[in-house]
Amino acid sequence: MRREVILTLFFSWTTHLTIGVLVFTPRLIQDVAIGNLLRYTQIQKHTVFFHPEGSDDLYVGGTNIVYRIDLEQSHLVENYSLTPTGGQNCEVIPCENIITVIEQFQDSLFICGTNAYMPLCWKVYPRVGNDSSRVMKNREGIGISPPVYSQKSLSLTVEGDLYAATNLQFRRTLGNRISVSMHDKWLTEPTFVSASWIRRREDPDQEKIYIFFREKNLDSNPDADPWISRIAQICKVDEGGPKRFLQSIWTSFLKARLACGIRGESLFFNRLQDVFVQHADDWRASQVYTLFTSSWNASAVCVYSLDEIEAVFTKSSFRGLNKEIPNPRPGVCVTNSKEIPVDTLKVVRENPEMSDWIWPLHRQAPFYVSDTPYTRITVDTVTDVDGRPHNVLLLATDKGIIHKILEDNFTPFIISEMRLHHPAPVQSMKLISKKGKLLVGFRDQVAQLDLGSCRDYGTSCADCVLARDPYCAWSGSGCAPAVLGAIQNIDGGTVDVCPQSGTDQQRNRPPSPELLGVSHVLPMGVAFYMSCPVRSYHASYTWEHEGQSSPCVAAQREPQTQEDCLQLIPAVRAKHYGTHECVSVEQNYTRVLKSYRLLPPIENRARRAWWSSVTTSLSGLALVSILCH
Ligand SMILES: *[C@@H]1O[C@H](CO)[C@@H](O)[C@H](O)[C@H]1NC(C)=O
Ligand SMILES: *[C@@H]1O[C@H](CO)[C@@H](O)[C@H](O)[C@H]1NC(C)=O
Ligand SMILES: *[C@@H]1O[C@H](CO)[C@@H](O)[C@H](O)[C@H]1NC(C)=O
Ligand SMILES: *[C@@H]1O[C@H](CO)[C@@H](O)[C@H](O)[C@H]1NC(C)=O
Repeated sequence: MRREVILTLFFSWTTHLTIGVLVFTPRLIQDVAIGNLLRYTQIQKHTVFFHPEGSDDLYVGGTNIVYRIDLEQSHLVENYSLTPTGGQNCEVIPCENIITVIEQFQDSLFICGTNAYMPLCWKVYPRVGNDSSRVMKNREGIGISPPVYSQKSLSLTVEGDLYAATNLQFRRTLGNRISVSMHDKWLTEPTFVSASWIRRREDPDQEKIYIFFREKNLDSNPDADPWISRIAQICKVDEGGPKRFLQSIWTSFLKARLACGIRGESLFFNRLQDVFVQHADDWRASQVYTLFTSSWNASAVCVYSLDEIEAVFTKSSFRGLNKEIPNPRPGVCVTNSKEIPVDTLKVVRENPEMSDWIWPLHRQAPFYVSDTPYTRITVDTVTDVDGRPHNVLLLATDKGIIHKILEDNFTPFIISEMRLHHPAPVQSMKLISKKGKLLVGFRDQVAQLDLGSCRDYGTSCADCVLARDPYCAWSGSGCAPAVLGAIQNIDGGTVDVCPQSGTDQQRNRPPSPELLGVSHVLPMGVAFYMSCPVRSYHASYTWEHEGQSSPCVAAQREPQTQEDCLQLIPAVRAKHYGTHECVSVEQNYTRVLKSYRLLPPIENRARRAWWSSVTTSLSGLALVSILCH
């Protein structure tokens, strides 16, 4: 019975999906050249990027090495060799040091790696001026780096304190404040995905660190997804409980379910994959962009607001708590956590899960659903020519494809599918918003991608405006990176903003010369086909001939980078002679993309001329009878 319900829901969901996929087709497919920043001397199983805010440096941690790249000059500055130490028997286990943590910590870079299953950390002082760089062994790395790189880990520096999550724990390990960790019972087989510190300028003591992860679902129902995704909070000022209770254990830990699905339908995307936190000046307006996958390998992007996350942590009841909520409320940030009453601490220890779920913003549904299995998400805020900000999502797949998606009033508009000239899994991704660049890490190289590659959109104002790409605008002579005063219409993509003259705006204008004059002389009875390039997958294409229009026969070209709109004529007949135009309509913009003139051979042409002179003096009925003979 239950299975039946699930199946029905699944079908209704797949219908949604099918519709979604139709609506959410990328408008364009772009072949994107990538700039090479660094080519590794050996294949990297795992890489980690670190970009100190505001600097021109990118640090890339690989196996036994950390590279420093100058992003301004696009070249390698130096590398630090970090080979495993400790005297293990390298014949028995591979002596590799896979770098998992790079943070700016105190006066140096703090780098940790697996160090042949005995995690270790180094301090690295990069080269400055004439001083050469220095690498110093620092301390044991257990609890900071996992012993095996495939166990996801994360690290975060907050005001000189280092927070790290490895296999089962999220703890503060190094710095000014005392070390604090989690209670063993709080999580079940967690996979940590991300952690973020949300500042509150008006009240720094209330600042929280949020941890995003998935864990084993304890629901034993066979239909339940084995995973459940969550957000947890801890207070920055938390120093653990008093001596006998939660000593050196977080006293402000609470967790809640991150629900990514449609409210009312019990189908969810349960497997959190990646998180991007968009910080706002007012912390309440900050947003969390999350990427989920489902058990049937579909993806969804859900967007949550910090305001609503905070509301759940400060207002929800506690799951499994049958008593009144004690005062002070569990999870509230207090400057001396060692003085929190035991009644409050007991709830944190025994019932840290919120009964309420955290639902996505606004429509309480995913922002975007796709059958593409994405692996990474990042979000850029791009200012348009009128100075208004727009969010652009960048979603990467494991095949070297990146989708560029405009957040258009809570509906996704897929600007383009960028096919990188390197069809390999994207291991790491880092947005350098100020430079309009996306850094992409593959197994064999680090590449950079220019997000404002506008020329691909075409050579007319209409092409540029229809793209609705906040990075690009019509400059008067070409589609170029957006500057003040250029022409753009991000909200609607309507071409009315383009100047009326000098463009191919009007339907009636003849297409450009290279499209015209494709004349073909065809005898009756031969087969013929006409093709027209499909550029925008959001446009509709038809073939028009003597006032009649017929749809395309779509054909996929090899390699699948472009589709053509075809018109097939199995056997040419008299009615086929004349002009055929391939017409596209997108938004309200109609234009002729290509035109063919089909002509009869010379002797037929003479007869046709004679016919037409006859037809002018005959009635239509008589013409039909002549043609039939
Ligand atoms: C690291 O830098 C040194 C010195 O510049 C160079 O000799 C070495 O080849 C580099 N190693 C790698 C793996 O790039
Ligand atoms: C760095 O070295 C160069 C050449 O060796 C020298 O001319 C310059 O003065 C040095 N700069 C500093 C800051 O020491
Ligand atoms: C989902 O993807 C995984 C890995 O690619 C594959 O093993 C699995 O069979 C897929 N599941 C479905 C339902 O397609
Ligand atoms: C298309 O044109 C119609 C009629 O002129 C107008 O009402 C409509 O708003 C236009 N739509 C767009 C998307 O420009």
